[in-house]
Amino acid sequence: MDSILVRGNGALSGVIPIAGAKNACLTLMPATLLSDEPLTLTNAPRLSDIATMTQLLQSLGAEVASLQDGLVLAMSSHSISNFKADYDIVRKMRASILVLGPMLARYGHAVVSLPGGCAIGARPVDLHLRALEAMGATLDLRDGYVHAKAAGGRLKGAVFEFPFVSVGATENALMAATLAKGTTILKNAAREPEIVDLARCLRRMGAQIDGEGTSTLTIEGVDRLGGATHPVVTDRIELGTYMLVPAICGGEVECLGGTLELVGAFAERLEAAGVSVTQTNRGLKVSRKNGRVRAVDVTTEPFPGFPTDLQAQMMALLCTAEGTSVLEEKIFENRFMHAPELMRMGAKIDVHGGTATVTGVEKLKGAPVMATDLRASVSLILAGLAAEGETVVSRVYHLDRGYERVEEKLRACGAHIERIRA
Ligand code: UD1
Repeated sequence: MDSILVRGNGALSGVIPIAGAKNACLTLMPATLLSDEPLTLTNAPRLSDIATMTQLLQSLGAEVASLQDGLVLAMSSHSISNFKADYDIVRKMRASILVLGPMLARYGHAVVSLPGGCAIGARPVDLHLRALEAMGATLDLRDGYVHAKAAGGRLKGAVFEFPFVSVGATENALMAATLAKGTTILKNAAREPEIVDLARCLRRMGAQIDGEGTSTLTIEGVDRLGGATHPVVTDRIELGTYMLVPAICGGEVECLGGTLELVGAFAERLEAAGVSVTQTNRGLKVSRKNGRVRAVDVTTEPFPGFPTDLQAQMMALLCTAEGTSVLEEKIFENRFMHAPELMRMGAKIDVHGGTATVTGVEKLKGAPVMATDLRASVSLILAGLAAEGETVVSRVYHLDRGYERVEEKLRACGAHIERIRA
């Protein structure tokens, strides 16, 4: 297994291009299953999770071609031949469950493996299933698979209120509703930019959707959807991660393609910590010129709140802040596995349930550490960039699921980082 070696190298400055959003692309790709005409995504990120979704769609009989070095995904689902998403692929990536809604909506039946547990908590898919049931699906859970059928072969529009906000369940229900008979109203829907992006793409395919970006989505089902070409929205989590580079190391980094709209709550916390964030005509410029950052409290929430996917990286910053910060994780239980690793680097962190209290230290110290999940892995790289000495992050396959060309992007800002191939 590869590891990454990072050596603290003082302030970092430069320009970093931000890729298309992994999480948007992972829901846009299954949308191909809704139509027999081609769906082309541009600005796709080059990541192993995208390769896994490609493999899953191909296993169903979809054609997926990766063009222009992976930046363009040309897909077609005109000849779906298999209606079963196998455990062997689904277990690699939870987002695989997103094929369920589209397959059920277009073909009236589907069998999808249950994703199983994952490192950051139980993460069930009950809300996905309940929303589809409300649209007339009958679901039979057996042998680790969901066997789904639409009564009469077609889903029906319904009013469904999510008991709490779920990004994935909103995406599955939204895709399913585009081909259901009649009107669907989804209440307490997720408002994440990835949902807005999905709604825009579906509309390009001919779907009738209202309200994306608000907590009520209204979908008027249509008989068929057509093809489309759609650019994937900028990855706000990659954006936030690289905004933390000058925050933690000092220096100035311009993140190309970034907008405040995508990272409002996060940028507000960075500014409260003493970091400057400015919108330019091509991205977001972030700088920290002198002194340590100040401690700030952070609570993760659904969008537009502070994203859980930036909590680990923010913690790395706060480990070096002046004062004591309290981080509350409200989305996932058990999402502080990076804390003991950061502590190996000299961080002072006290975790109690969903709350971590971080007392900043003047300087972190390099150490061998282990990545436990995707966002944890990059938080350790950030900590390593700001630490004295050498840090080796092992198990970086997590990193490759969500960050493309990390070494290249950071080296362009003067970082000392290299991959040690196993
Ligand atoms: C998506 C993102 C992930 C991000 C998360 C929250 C993708 C591929 N992944 O994950 O990076 O961290 O949103 O912003 O887009 N829940 C249930 N039952 C369900 C569904 C969810 O109890 O049926 C719970 C989850 O365990 C979690 C909370 O709801 O505690 C929110 O999860 P959800 O928004 O669904 O996250 P994902 O869509 O899995």
